Amino acid sequence: MDLSDLTRDLDALRREAMTAVAAASDVAALTALEQDILGKKGRLTSVLRGIGALAPEDRPKVGSIANTIRISIEGAIAERGTTLRQGELAGRLRDEAIDVTTPGRPIRRGTLHPINETIAEIAEIFGRFGFVVYEGPEVEDDVRNFQMLNIAPDHPARDLWDTLYVDVEGHLLRTHTSPGQIRVMHQERPPIRALLPGRCFRYEAVDASHASEFFQVEGLMVDEGTTMGDLKGLLEEFAKAMYGGDKRTRFRPGYYPFTEPSVAFDVECIVCGGSGCPACSRSGWMTILGAGMVHPVVLQYGGLDPERYQGFAFGMGVERIANLRHRVGDLRLYMENDLRFLEQFT
Ligand code: PHE
Repeated sequence: MDLSDLTRDLDALRREAMTAVAAASDVAALTALEQDILGKKGRLTSVLRGIGALAPEDRPKVGSIANTIRISIEGAIAERGTTLRQGELAGRLRDEAIDVTTPGRPIRRGTLHPINETIAEIAEIFGRFGFVVYEGPEVEDDVRNFQMLNIAPDHPARDLWDTLYVDVEGHLLRTHTSPGQIRVMHQERPPIRALLPGRCFRYEAVDASHASEFFQVEGLMVDEGTTMGDLKGLLEEFAKAMYGGDKRTRFRPGYYPFTEPSVAFDVECIVCGGSGCPACSRSGWMTILGAGMVHPVVLQYGGLDPERYQGFAFGMGVERIANLRHRVGDLRLYMENDLRFLEQFT
């Protein structure tokens, strides 16, 4: 092997390399090519191995030719690399492009629970008459839930409320929202117009019309000269607003220890219109709440002088109202959190 052989081989390698670089189709192929030609064990190195066989004065010449070739191949690789990388980047940008004008995925919006929605509606109606919403605690004491409502510890009326006791110190889960009457009377001076919505608890055998957890809305009005007529007028307006203006209503005598006199308030059956059907037990009437004039003893426990003040109170079961509103037949549906049920109320 002499100088011209080696020079020829080097030139051949250069030409081959240049063609291959120009043909490299991606960055990975180019890198492999670079390794193959210029790498430690690459083809340029192996051609240069022949250098040892040359005359000493020829060796530097070959060295300088090899260097020039290396530099031009490196340059070609760098240039091709830039082109390929730009192309790949442009391709990625194209593939990963985001259409910012595409409409977003809709957010799942919840709806008010039918019970809360019914409470809001009730509060809105009584709000028109100046009633303000208050809230009392779900864990009450025996004194406010019973004693201050004129129900002594041994009073047989306790049988009306099957109570869940929390401890032996007299704490219990309120069986109705009526203890809120006492709380409001202790907190406010007359004239009082309070609405007290909230969850109540009773020890019940659960079925379609009995639940151990349910909601009530309590109403309380205390002022000078408040009469049973005010109560009747207010409840008639409520029934009109809730069920439509043409519904007949009536008071029936009732009994509660904390009101005197006490009544049940009925609305003409909204299913049959009064002719009698299964929904109203063929009576033509639906009882929607209990009410009465606040018992003087209760006013006294509330810190008010019954000689000066009179008041009325009423309490309604929210599920009952919601049932009639939405034609729901089973109380348990409200507590099951089944979306197929809940989604029907928007
Ligand atoms: N607290 C009574 C009940 O739970 C309802 C009621 C409230 C009656 C206020 C009269 C006055 O049955």
